[in-house]
Amino acid sequence: MTLKTLILAAGQGTRMRSAHPKVLHEIANRSLLQHVYDTSKLIDGNEIIVIYGHGGELVKQTLSSLDVQWLEQKQQLGTGHAVLQADSLIDNDNTVLILYGDVPLLTKQSIDRLLSNVTDQSLALLTVNLDNPTGYGRIVRDKEGNVTKITEHKDATEQEQLIKEVNTGILAVKGGKLKNWIARLDNSNAQQEFYLTDVIEMAVNEGITIKTSQPEHPDEVLGVNNRKQLSYLERAYQLAQADKLMEVGVTLSDPARIDCRGTFVSLGQDISVDINVIFEGNNRIGNNVSIGANTIINNSVIADDVQILANCIIDNAVVGAGSKVGPFARLRPQAELAEQVHIGNFVEIKKSTVAKGSKINHLSYIGDATIGSGVNIGAGTITCNYDGVNKFRTVIEDGAFIGSDTQLIAPVTVGKNATIGAGSTITKDTPDEQLSLSRAKQISIQSWQRPVKKEQ
Ligand code: UD1
Ligand code: CA
Repeated sequence: MTLKTLILAAGQGTRMRSAHPKVLHEIANRSLLQHVYDTSKLIDGNEIIVIYGHGGELVKQTLSSLDVQWLEQKQQLGTGHAVLQADSLIDNDNTVLILYGDVPLLTKQSIDRLLSNVTDQSLALLTVNLDNPTGYGRIVRDKEGNVTKITEHKDATEQEQLIKEVNTGILAVKGGKLKNWIARLDNSNAQQEFYLTDVIEMAVNEGITIKTSQPEHPDEVLGVNNRKQLSYLERAYQLAQADKLMEVGVTLSDPARIDCRGTFVSLGQDISVDINVIFEGNNRIGNNVSIGANTIINNSVIADDVQILANCIIDNAVVGAGSKVGPFARLRPQAELAEQVHIGNFVEIKKSTVAKGSKINHLSYIGDATIGSGVNIGAGTITCNYDGVNKFRTVIEDGAFIGSDTQLIAPVTVGKNATIGAGSTITKDTPDEQLSLSRAKQISIQSWQRPVKKEQ
């Protein structure tokens, strides 16, 4: 049995008031369509077909790496008409799952439950009970509780409008049956559209049972039609992420003030995260790590026993075990700190390795550098790595001590256990163990008089 998933994504999304197609709007840095795709992909052997709309070329271009078949629905004549586009790609013995490109939070669990209800004699339908069912298709049941049809809000009688159980639009059924029904749809209804929902009544007339299931949480089946709904689902998604983090033992100062826009490759024990922290990309975080407020961590590795203080940006970097970073530190791509390193405030590190136990505590720029172990870099030290055209490396060997306000003009090497006097501009390699400094001689002028203001 092959599963074919149709993702309907041809709607224009006028109410987003956007120049971009609706399904390209994002939740947690991933487009709505990508969310649906990623969840679909969790199901083995699934062949995915995306129905995109006129003007949706941009959708196809932007998501060209997706492993899907793209089908254009030139005119949006209704959900049934959208499914009809895929008719020739559906075989009779396929199971067909219908999903929506603008319903991003559906879980694999809900899809699995739905699919377990599909047989040759039953159609699986996902429904949900809403306090305010306005606008949705209502699930009409007979006295025995069997589903007999779906009535769209605009076509519903007053009695039917009282029904709180609504159609999510998500369903699964055997291909042969579906093909037969969609070929017979008509558009004699309030919206003059070919409604996919009309297949329910056709199924019932053929003696097919409609087996309903419900999602774990109603947010799973909510669609995005405007920016308000987009932000609602973003927050719902983030709260769910925060729940997962707490379940695996992460302490969050406030689950409503953390954003995860990526994944955790690994998470250790006893991690604590202060407010307004953003995780992006794929991060690995070890045991006993604390992360201060307003910090952004992107695609990075944070080892055990690391303390990251408030307001840091850690981007494609590695922080070794027992290190301390921040507040206000910026680790840029390829910054690699070994164990027990201290990086303090207003320090920027790029494409540099810092070996065990070294300290760069205040106001420094370290770029394209190799820094040994036990090195102490004084406040205001700058590696001058760029001549406007080329980049050069600075090497600082083990145990060196760099006095404050030093400029290291790369390429340059500071020897082992060397000391650089404060305020130096170092243009040549400095020997091991010795003090090197470059400094203008200090003079004092005895007869000098401070200028005074003339009285008016
Ligand atoms: C549909 C259901 C309704 C259900 C509701 C849940 C039908 C007839 N009605 O109503 O029972 O309660 O969803 O949200 O199915 N689309 C296309 N091509 C089209 C028309 C729609 O791809 O020609 C896509 C849209 O992009 C959208 C989805 O299908 O993602 C739903 O279409 P929409 O017109 O919004 O249906 P609703 O009126 O919301
Ligand atoms: Ca809709």
